[in-house]
Amino acid sequence: MILRFILALAVTALSVNGWTCNVVMCDHTNTNNSQIYCGGDILKAVNEANLFNDSKEFVDMPLKFDPDTTIADFEAEFNGTGKIDPVKLQKFVNDHFYPAGHELEQCVPAGYSPKPGKLMTIVDDSLRDWALNLNNVWSHLCRKVSDNVTLHPELHSLIEVPHEFIIPGGRFREPYYWDAYWIVKGLLASEMYEAAARMLLNYKSYVDRFGFIPNGGRVYYLQRSQPPMYIPMIYEFYEATKNVSFVRKLLASAEAELNFWDTHRTVDVSLPHGDYTLYRYNSASNVPRPEAFKEDMATANATDRQSCDLWSNLATTAETGYDFSTRWFADKKSLVTIETKNVVPVDLNSFICWNLEILTFLFEYVGMDTVKSDQYRQRYITHRRNLQKVFFNETEGAWLDYNLREKAHNPTFYASLAAPLFTNCYEKLDSNKAVQIYDFFKRHKAFEFTSGVPQSTINSSQQWDFPNGWSHVNHMIIEGFRKSNSPQMQEEAFALATKWVRGNYKVFNATKHMYEKYDVVGDIPQPGAGGEYNVQEGFGWSNGVILDLLVTYGDRISVSGGDKTTAAAGAYISSGLGLIALMIPMFLRA
Ligand SMILES: *[C@@H]1O[C@H](CO)[C@@H](O)[C@H](O)[C@H]1NC(C)=O
Ligand SMILES: *[C@@H]1O[C@H](CO)[C@@H](O)[C@H](O)[C@H]1NC(C)=O
Ligand SMILES: *[C@@H]1O[C@H](CO)[C@@H](O)[C@H](O)[C@H]1NC(C)=O
Ligand SMILES: *[C@@H]1O[C@H](CO)[C@@H](O)[C@H](O)[C@H]1NC(C)=O
Ligand SMILES: *[C@@H]1O[C@H](CO)[C@@H](O)[C@H](O)[C@H]1NC(C)=O
Ligand SMILES: *[C@@H]1O[C@H](CO)[C@@H](O)[C@H](O)[C@H]1NC(C)=O
Ligand SMILES: *[C@@H]1O[C@H](CO)[C@@H](O)[C@H](O)[C@H]1NC(C)=O
Ligand SMILES: *[C@@H]1O[C@H](CO)[C@@H](O)[C@H](O)[C@H]1NC(C)=O
Ligand SMILES: *[C@@H]1O[C@H](CO)[C@@H](O)[C@H](O)[C@H]1NC(C)=O
Repeated sequence: MILRFILALAVTALSVNGWTCNVVMCDHTNTNNSQIYCGGDILKAVNEANLFNDSKEFVDMPLKFDPDTTIADFEAEFNGTGKIDPVKLQKFVNDHFYPAGHELEQCVPAGYSPKPGKLMTIVDDSLRDWALNLNNVWSHLCRKVSDNVTLHPELHSLIEVPHEFIIPGGRFREPYYWDAYWIVKGLLASEMYEAAARMLLNYKSYVDRFGFIPNGGRVYYLQRSQPPMYIPMIYEFYEATKNVSFVRKLLASAEAELNFWDTHRTVDVSLPHGDYTLYRYNSASNVPRPEAFKEDMATANATDRQSCDLWSNLATTAETGYDFSTRWFADKKSLVTIETKNVVPVDLNSFICWNLEILTFLFEYVGMDTVKSDQYRQRYITHRRNLQKVFFNETEGAWLDYNLREKAHNPTFYASLAAPLFTNCYEKLDSNKAVQIYDFFKRHKAFEFTSGVPQSTINSSQQWDFPNGWSHVNHMIIEGFRKSNSPQMQEEAFALATKWVRGNYKVFNATKHMYEKYDVVGDIPQPGAGGEYNVQEGFGWSNGVILDLLVTYGDRISVSGGDKTTAAAGAYISSGLGLIALMIPMFLRA
């Protein structure tokens, strides 16, 4: 076993450009089937033979026999045969694997009710019917792990979790990390508190076993995480239920999760005015992502760049949640210049900021531990200050990613730059911040599209760029303005919410489906496109965002009608006089 492991590792160095490096992938320390699902000859052969259109399908297929037997059978049949016959290989796969998703069972989520009270308060008839429809969809997206996985974890890439969960949908057939924040928001809108609690317990179980939360619930995701939203999920659950006894049991895992980011994801930024410790994404994995094996091989093939470094940046980008976007490309054009490890991102640092503030709050009122609460408060204040010092660009009037290679901000517009508003990571007395960010977005024409805010204004054919708009990012922008101190910005939040809801509704009305992303351009909005896989239906976070917005604005949001649009409004905000006019009511209120 050890010998085979070393041999297979050598094979996994798959260097298309003749570079060698010490391979880091999911391995025997976290899974016994890494040579099937994370690297090894079978994974390579299946992808080279192009047996599946979507690279992810193969690595989601459970084994019929133990990994050693499977590898031995493969070697016996294919060793030294030169080019592998795809027909024989397909037969081998059929004989040795179950179909993708075989290890997951459908379920009814706990606490499901066809007419939850909060959704019944939505005034507009069409929107209320839609909300009830989406409430139903939770049952279609509910999964639990079959007993076989518990009995024989080595036969599965799926990582066992104790409770049922909501999946995003489509090819995303397992639990994901940051999606879950918006799924939990939606479950809370649907008053499915027990289902939300069980999701939290699953994330706790990852932390207890691995010391962090993987990108998704498969062994091949064990070398990377995703934006840290576990603590915000706990906070939302607490706010909705005030369930002190339950939340108290999660606090140790919340601290452990933050500790992962503190230990493995910090970076020092030296600026003329001081040195600052901030956070960046940084996966150690330096092999093709198993679920995107063909794509990562092709990318490596298209450049002379060292493959391990390239693959490590690709895996790191998957950790950001935004795979892929020109935001991470050195030349702002091509994937092969990806340099995510050089980017200190505004949004990650905002999430950490929020985590610190939430822990301050929860240790005070749930943990009853004022010493810890004070420690987190101190860290929160320091981090919030660092975030302003490193990211806020006075000329642009916006928080901008900091590039370590260029030692400068990236001035390009990305919708995720609103994250400090969403996470309250600025001083509340600094009440002009929301207006400044609004102006920055407006200058970049972010509000000029029919169905929402696009992720960027660069049409790159990457899925995290124009013309795609994403539910959770639109939600962060809306919530950022809604939670601000400015009544005008709160109205803009409502206008943006109306736009997003109507855009999604039109697509739903035409297709009867929700999607992971939307094309925000044009009168008849389409599901989005671009990227390395087809647009997916379902869809967990999109449904969660709509349900949350419909509950927040249920008393006044409508499917059609003459509400002002954001593009039309806001003109008054750009002029200096308008700004002063905005400030006056705030002073009066204070
Ligand atoms: C691998 O299998 C062995 C023997 O069944 C087991 O003791 C060990 O815990 C497993 N390791 C992992 C990481 O699952
Ligand atoms: C793969 O994609 C091609 C072209 O889109 C399609 O014709 C074919 O049916 C697909 N194969 C599978 C197995 O889905
Ligand atoms: C297949 O090749 C590997 C090395 O490439 C060797 O270790 C193994 O014994 C061979 N297996 C069989 C069944 O011939
Ligand atoms: C569970 O394992 C048994 C025996 O390997 C197999 O027949 C069955 O199809 C598996 N069921 C699931 C849901 O994976
Ligand atoms: C707290 O949440 C847990 C898990 O959902 C539940 O079992 C318990 O009854 C809740 N307690 C209260 C007081 O609501
Ligand atoms: C890599 O490039 C070669 C020649 O340019 C081509 O034959 C091969 O199919 C490519 N491999 C991948 C994975 O794209
Ligand atoms: C702030 O933005 C301006 C204008 O885009 C740019 O010239 C300047 O370099 C930026 N500051 C930093 C620290 O990057
Ligand atoms: C984006 O670019 C593609 C390819 O150049 C083009 O087909 C498409 O129309 C563009 N989309 C928009 C909304 O401009
Ligand atoms: C929904 O679609 C129907 C036709 O399928 C159309 O009559 C109706 O106007 C649409 N509603 C909205 C709000 O777009």
